[in-house]
Amino acid sequence: MAKYIVEQSGPLRGEVTISGSKNAVLPILAATVLSEGVCEINDVPHLLDVEVMIQILRSLGADVSEDWDSHTVVVTPGQSTVSEVPHDLVKKMRASIFVMGPLLARTGSAVIALPGGCSIGNRPIDLHNKGLRLLGARILTGDGIVEASAPNGLRGSLVYLDFPSVGATENIMMAATLAQGTTTIENAAEEPEIVDLANFLNKMGARIKGAGTDTIRIEGVQHLHGTRHAVIPDRIETGTFMVAAAISRGDVLIKNSVPDHVRPVIAKLLECGAVVNDEVDGLRVRGDVKDLVATDIKTLPYPGFPTDMQALFMALLTTVDGTSAVIETVFENRFMHAAELSRMGANIRVDGRTAIVPGNKHQLVGARVISTDLRAGAALVLAGLVAKGRTEVSEIYHIERGYEGFHDKLSALGAKIERVED
Ligand code: EPZ
Repeated sequence: MAKYIVEQSGPLRGEVTISGSKNAVLPILAATVLSEGVCEINDVPHLLDVEVMIQILRSLGADVSEDWDSHTVVVTPGQSTVSEVPHDLVKKMRASIFVMGPLLARTGSAVIALPGGCSIGNRPIDLHNKGLRLLGARILTGDGIVEASAPNGLRGSLVYLDFPSVGATENIMMAATLAQGTTTIENAAEEPEIVDLANFLNKMGARIKGAGTDTIRIEGVQHLHGTRHAVIPDRIETGTFMVAAAISRGDVLIKNSVPDHVRPVIAKLLECGAVVNDEVDGLRVRGDVKDLVATDIKTLPYPGFPTDMQALFMALLTTVDGTSAVIETVFENRFMHAAELSRMGANIRVDGRTAIVPGNKHQLVGARVISTDLRAGAALVLAGLVAKGRTEVSEIYHIERGYEGFHDKLSALGAKIERVED
């Protein structure tokens, strides 16, 4: 198992270029199952999760070529599409569930191992199933398998989502593209990744309106053809490097970022006293202008403060003047990093969905810590940059699932970080 060795580093300085969005490219790759023609996807981040999704597409009969120098993936549909996703691949990545809607729409059936929970919550798929059932699918779950079938095809329907689930919105939207009639998704998720997926589907010939709002209307069509699409930049990687600049009291230019996708992160960094400038070449974030101070965070579905930025921001808040409150409303168990940060001297108190984060009275001290999920791991690395001495972050496969070249990008900014095999 590999781990990161992080030494206390000075202020990060220089520029970093953001990769394509993990949470946009995974549903977009799944959506190629709907296409009868060749799809070329550009700006694909080279991540473990993307490799797994490519293996899934190959197991379903597609021919997939990858060129990581140009970050391009080309998906050519096979003669026939298999409807069953191998269990060992689903176990590797929850996002495999994104192929359920496309498979159902394209072949009339989908057999997928139930994606397990993970450390941040039990991650149910009841809203995915509710929407697909309303489109006419029969869905059986048992023995850790979900079997969906729609032998007579899918029919458009009104679908109200009890929670604006990103994955459920994406699965239902993809399935509805080939349904007979019109589907309306109410209380839909509004994340930029939903808009990117809808843009991709519309370029394939789908008829989707309202993506990015809480009401999405999909008029079903008979066929979807191939197309070419460049994935949006990763807004959570953008936020991660914005926090890296602030926590290290540095000055970093973040290129290939979309300011509109990180408005809540910009707002909270400004509240802390960081300086954020939208420059021609990207977002410049400075944490070296004045002393940083506490602020409160409450995670919400987009356009609220993103849950995926909660751990990163908590790490920053352990180093500022004053005490902050962090409230996590999206996942039921997303504070594991608090215990790890406390082992570095942060002294965070967790009570249900609220964490109280004392400020820099507790100068962080390096320790051996464990990465419990993708964003928690990244937060521990950032904390290690400013902690006294050496921090060892283990279980870093979580981090490498979702950040392309993470330690190389940090090293290029002056971070003292090394990747070693345990
Ligand atoms: C997506 O997960 C992202 N993953 C997550 O990013 C992100 O944290 C999450 O959206 C919220 O923004 C990908 O896009 C691959 P949800 P998803 O369905 O779709 C509950 C990362 O770090 N829920 O919006 O699984 C669920 O339990 C990852 O990149 C149901 O109750 O998130 C959770 O409490 C982590 N029933 C809440 O909704 C359902 O059927 C939000 O889940 C579905 C979800």
